[in-house]
Amino acid sequence: MTEGTGGSGGQLWAGRFSVAPAPEAHALGRSLAFDARLAQFDVEAGVAHVRALQDAGFLTPVEAGALEEALADVGNEIAEGRFAFDDADEDIHSAIERAVTDRLGDLGAKLHAGRSRNDLVVADLRLWLLAAGRRIDALLASLVVALVARAREHAETVMPGTTHARFAQPVTLGHHLLAHGWAFARDLERFAEWAVRTSTSPLGAGATATSTLGLDPDMTAARLGFHRAFRNSIDAVSDRDFVQEFLADAAICATHLSRLAADLARWTDESLGWATLDEAYSTGSSMMPQKRNPDTAELARGKAARVAADFVAVAALLQGLPLGYHRDLQEDKEPAFDAADTLELVLPALTGAVATLRFDTDAMRAACASEGLYATDLAEALVRDGVPFREAHRRTGELLKRLASEDRGLAGLDDDEWAAFGVPGGSRMLDPDASVAARTMAGGPSSASVRVQADALAAVIAERPINP
Ligand code: ARG
Repeated sequence: MTEGTGGSGGQLWAGRFSVAPAPEAHALGRSLAFDARLAQFDVEAGVAHVRALQDAGFLTPVEAGALEEALADVGNEIAEGRFAFDDADEDIHSAIERAVTDRLGDLGAKLHAGRSRNDLVVADLRLWLLAAGRRIDALLASLVVALVARAREHAETVMPGTTHARFAQPVTLGHHLLAHGWAFARDLERFAEWAVRTSTSPLGAGATATSTLGLDPDMTAARLGFHRAFRNSIDAVSDRDFVQEFLADAAICATHLSRLAADLARWTDESLGWATLDEAYSTGSSMMPQKRNPDTAELARGKAARVAADFVAVAALLQGLPLGYHRDLQEDKEPAFDAADTLELVLPALTGAVATLRFDTDAMRAACASEGLYATDLAEALVRDGVPFREAHRRTGELLKRLASEDRGLAGLDDDEWAAFGVPGGSRMLDPDASVAARTMAGGPSSASVRVQADALAAVIAERPINP
């Protein structure tokens, strides 16, 4: 039994108990295997709490200094892998408090006054997620920067734009790449807005009803870099919006990553042959010597499933849970860690794949010989001449149907036939450069629009709010 904890089994709460926990109950409750990742923030929150106790007159400056030093020592031991966890340690919070008490005896026993693991675990997890959010922000920004760079290189590269994965209308590769970029810019914005709400300190809320010790939650919040302190102690220990919202934002981001990955897999498919993944981002086959597989893209696509599942796990956990702390809430951490880890794994890999992707611009241009890509341009040429669109659409469709039945195409029409159709010189419109150049409107695929768009997106990234 650990000295000073009383009762049985060495638990911090053992005083009220006569028997130690059943080993299987202890095994079920023990969260150290995953919550040890909170150690650094548990120490920081502990130091802020020590100062609150000192401000309130419960610790002398010397005592506070000794507690801070012991907390820092324990934190270093954990960080360096030298810390001896005890079998009785339930979680990282109890392990750290127990170790401080092992060092300082009666003084260590003063640490937990006015504090509960219920408010502490929320403080730790908020700080952990805010730090992860800052890393994800930097990784997302790098991905957008890579997309903008590739888009600028390919502002003039024509390719068939698709709907239903079928050739639709010519676009530029730069335009398509920036479409992914804007999605990630929204992810950055979502994470930044989430961070503002998440920057709320729960410390001082205690188990559920604050304390009688006159601690100052605003001061503790400021010491930890939080924007504000809780407004309601029951909400402070019950609220896991910050976890659920992080997971929602992460799931949306992972969805965007999967859609970019799907384009990489499709473009590099040999039946299309529009791009090649660099060898460093491809994999071979254990059996077929010729293979170069797009595993990086496929895994980036597949990982979106687990991030969505992480969100669903926490949504289900919280639904219908009465207010107040429940041990159920211990289940919030693994999904949160998993989603952050997954984004931190996928983002750099996909950024590297994008930055090193080799585009076959000749193959993309050759694919633009598909005449159907220009059908809408022809219909719009008729509209510019006053033909109602529905009629222009029908006339163009009928022309295509007749040509197909005659086993020829638009390229075979002579000047008289073009004039009869109502678009004199129409053959000049069967050209991807002309088609794209005619779309100079803002947000369109012309090279000029792509350059404006690339500058705008780069500015959004450069000027984005800094996560608190
Ligand atoms: N390990 C716990 C968790 O992650 C810490 C809070 C424990 N509180 C309690 N009342 N048992 O939620």
